[in-house]
Amino acid sequence: MIILDGKKTSNDIKEEIAEEVKQIKAKGERVPHLAAILVGTDGASMTYVNAKVKACEKIGFESTLIDLPEDTSEAVLLQKIHELNTNDAIDGFIVQLPLPKHIDEQKVLMAVDADKDVDGFHPTNVGKMALDLPSFLPATPYGILELLERYEVETSGKNVVVMGRSHIVGRPMSILMSQKRKAGDATVTVVHSRTKDLAEITKQADIIVAAIGISEFLKGDMVKDGVVIIDVGITRVPDETKARGYRLAGDVDFESVSPKASYITPVPGGVGPMTIAMLLKNTLQARDIRS
Ligand code: GUN
Repeated sequence: MIILDGKKTSNDIKEEIAEEVKQIKAKGERVPHLAAILVGTDGASMTYVNAKVKACEKIGFESTLIDLPEDTSEAVLLQKIHELNTNDAIDGFIVQLPLPKHIDEQKVLMAVDADKDVDGFHPTNVGKMALDLPSFLPATPYGILELLERYEVETSGKNVVVMGRSHIVGRPMSILMSQKRKAGDATVTVVHSRTKDLAEITKQADIIVAAIGISEFLKGDMVKDGVVIIDVGITRVPDETKARGYRLAGDVDFESVSPKASYITPVPGGVGPMTIAMLLKNTLQARDIRS
């Protein structure tokens, strides 16, 4: 069993990007600038956004964090987005999800300039992606493709089961892995909360991407020997033996699944760090488009 080490791989990617930033600076040019909007004080979202900003500092990007209170109106948020769209100093920006319930997420994502949409969530970028056209790829699926490529995991002709149909992970993952591409060319099945006999389907899978948001859902008796496991889930599970009172668990029961797996991503240290690295890669690409 080989661990797909997202922490190490993301550090490799960040070093590659930092090298490019050095060259940009050496030429006396402007370094990439990423902005992030966070609405409210959701613990996990604050952690993710801070990690994104910190990663920018580490590799030499400029970054701006726009921290808005939970009761921010949709109109004020849309105005902030307009300001970032028209600010020439900003190459790309993200609006951290989820948003408070009183804000229409779709309206917000559609307000982002598609050329600055480094999350790849704007319909223009989703449409381009689905049509095999160059676009910003959403960071989590992009990170999974990169991890599979760098570990030279064969995907062509394989049975891939994507668990979950979210706009951020499951849906784009299912599109990307069916495309003619490296880490693609697969036969893709999407399973979700309404799927019947789910375990019968996962047992046929050569590769499973688990992104359903239920901790330790996928058990050892639901997979075949030699399966490749990509665990996207990250949930806080109460644990009194830990000083902070919880542990982080994926959607996969690592203990029962890992002995059967040929490759598996750990949680934490698998897909999560890759997401941040690919967001940075998209920001570098956004700067290249604009300069
Ligand atoms: N919430 C969970 N994942 C993501 C992501 O990749 N981007 C944004 N903006 N919000 C998220």
